[in-house]
Amino acid sequence: MITLKGKVHYVGINDRTKTLFEGLWPLPYGVTYNSYLIADEKIALIDTVDVNYFDLFLKKIKEVIGERPIDYLVINHMEPDHSGSIRLLRQFYPNITLVSNKKALDMVEGFYGTGAQTQVIAEGGSLELGHHTLKFHMIPMVHWPETMVSYDTTEHILFAGDAFGCFGAMNGTPIDSMMDTTVYWSEMERYYSNIVGKYGAPVQKALQKLGGLELEMICSTHGPVWTGENISKVIDVYDRLSRYATEEGVVIAYGSMYGNTQQMAETIAEELAKEGIRKIVMHDVSRINHSFILADIFRYKGLILGAPTYNASIYPQMEMLMSEIEMREIKNHYLGYFGSFSWACHSTKKLSVFSEKVSFETVGAPVEMKQGMKECTRIACRELAKAMADRLKEDR
Ligand SMILES: Cc1cc2nc3c(=O)[nH]c(=O)nc-3n(C[C@H](O)[C@H](O)[C@H](O)COP(=O)(O)O)c2cc1C
Ligand SMILES: [Fe+2]
Ligand SMILES: [Fe+2]
Repeated sequence: MITLKGKVHYVGINDRTKTLFEGLWPLPYGVTYNSYLIADEKIALIDTVDVNYFDLFLKKIKEVIGERPIDYLVINHMEPDHSGSIRLLRQFYPNITLVSNKKALDMVEGFYGTGAQTQVIAEGGSLELGHHTLKFHMIPMVHWPETMVSYDTTEHILFAGDAFGCFGAMNGTPIDSMMDTTVYWSEMERYYSNIVGKYGAPVQKALQKLGGLELEMICSTHGPVWTGENISKVIDVYDRLSRYATEEGVVIAYGSMYGNTQQMAETIAEELAKEGIRKIVMHDVSRINHSFILADIFRYKGLILGAPTYNASIYPQMEMLMSEIEMREIKNHYLGYFGSFSWACHSTKKLSVFSEKVSFETVGAPVEMKQGMKECTRIACRELAKAMADRLKEDR
């Protein structure tokens, strides 16, 4: 049994077998579905776990409360990684009351059918459990419309749903002060950039709304339970990323089948380094999962994209990356681009259309290369790199 504080227990699950979260994002360190149980005069469970882990989940619950029934299930977020066990939970606890906002409870009906006892709450609503009181705050679009948080006014614990979440399973304990947290910080940036990334403005609103709460513990649905000085660190990560705040550095993301376009990328990187840019990250769009590229794009202010022409269009993995950037409405970047072809160029045209759609400042002249590398292309690549370096240095 893992007790977080007094009557508050952790009953979350480590998933070490899922290879792709949402079918898209690799999980090199696994992932958790966190659920919390407050065993007060009334018993409240906060969120559930992926349905594949229901058996283990039930065992963990019974380890804490034995045969006592659960009175309330508080639903902060309806995405099936957290709501998946609702239907089975109702079979085992037929008298359980589902507590959430109207939007979430409508989704319960849509996903899991009718018949549950429900208690609808709205912004500022509360639930008395005995010693503990939960107060509810709506944080719409972080990152679904029904998302809310539950604040334990007794112990000052924020049950945050996906907010402040990160990838990574727990190795022995979910409590941050008892573990090495190193890996979770980069996994938090990758989680945020890929899953929450589009919703910077709603995250900013949520941070403002929650700003006045006294916090001793943040209990998200993914990743460690955060305490002590990590609380402000976690809030800072979410604040920085949702403001699209960047640091000096350049991501060069390129596609290349036979290495010609890659030579352009290498030339650009060399010139950036000569110009004193220390943080240069090169990503081959075919070789690395885009979640890592997107996390680096969120971090660094400079972005240079390049790809070959492919079937009168652009190399497919670059098309994918452009759409991933566009759909997240990433802001506050400098963009440069280059492309290659053999008989009729389309790659730079596609990148040019992209540059007009996104709200990035385009720097330097786009470079277009026919077939192999020549001195004129090398010079043009260096000029593009120099323009990017100069623009970045203006901000120093
Ligand atoms: C399947 C395929 C489709 C291509 N389609 C076009 C095209 O429509 N127009 C064009 O000019 N070049 C096209 N190319 C040629 C490449 O854009 C060109 O060879 C480029 O130099 C490849 O760059 P890389 O060496 O970085 O892979 C195509 C190449 C392949 C393999
Ligand atoms: Fe979610
Ligand atoms: Fe989630």
